Amino acid sequence: MSDENDVVEREKELAARAAVEYVTSGMRVGLGSGTTSAYAVKALGERVKGGLDIVAVATSKDTQALAISVGIPMITTTVPLALDLTIDGADEFDPELRLIKGGGGDLLHEKIVASASRREIIIADHRKQVQVLGAFPLPVEVIPIAWTLVAKAIRGLGGNPVLRGAKGAAAGTPFITDEGNFILDCSFGPIREPEALARDLEPIPGIVEHGLFLGYASEVLLAVGDRVERILPPQKGGARG
Ligand code: 5RP
Repeated sequence: MSDENDVVEREKELAARAAVEYVTSGMRVGLGSGTTSAYAVKALGERVKGGLDIVAVATSKDTQALAISVGIPMITTTVPLALDLTIDGADEFDPELRLIKGGGGDLLHEKIVASASRREIIIADHRKQVQVLGAFPLPVEVIPIAWTLVAKAIRGLGGNPVLRGAKGAAAGTPFITDEGNFILDCSFGPIREPEALARDLEPIPGIVEHGLFLGYASEVLLAVGDRVERILPPQKGGARG
């Protein structure tokens, strides 16, 4: 592994461990997906072995399997009406703590769990902080039969959608989400008005969910080198999208 990769992995773990410190016995906890969240799940597993008494809900099948393997008691039926705290990663966050998520393809369950969470802590390494969202193509989850129609509509909004391929499969094999849908990775260039883009995407038939998380993050724990910085949104409130 290169030095840069070592730094990033260490930052992910530092941010994850800092977030897990906020979990206390009696909580219902949401567990995010992705490599950064995996550090949090493992750290939480260590605390559960040490006596922490919680129940958790996962945002993906991978996270669920990992959480069970480290001994975290899981709710596997429906997402509870209220979760005390969710810890999740992000692909990008801006100064208003607006996020792009879905790089791992789990944005739908991540947004459902975030919507039920009183507190959503985003854990991030230094690469995730941006001034303007959009360098990371926006993941959009679509119903398979609608993907070409949705792609056309997204091109009409100025985006460049690409059907995500399954890792390690033959070329042209689409990535399939936990709900059996496809993902379009959509480059829009700098997204200066994420709320407006979210409003434009939401009515398109065939779109199940998009990866703009607006008004969900309560805080970001950003690890830069050996330091973890806690970043709060500039102001509280506002609609979620
Ligand atoms: C998965 C996500 C992840 O949180 C996001 O992709 C960040 O992943 P990683 O921690 O591996 O960089 O949204 O759908």
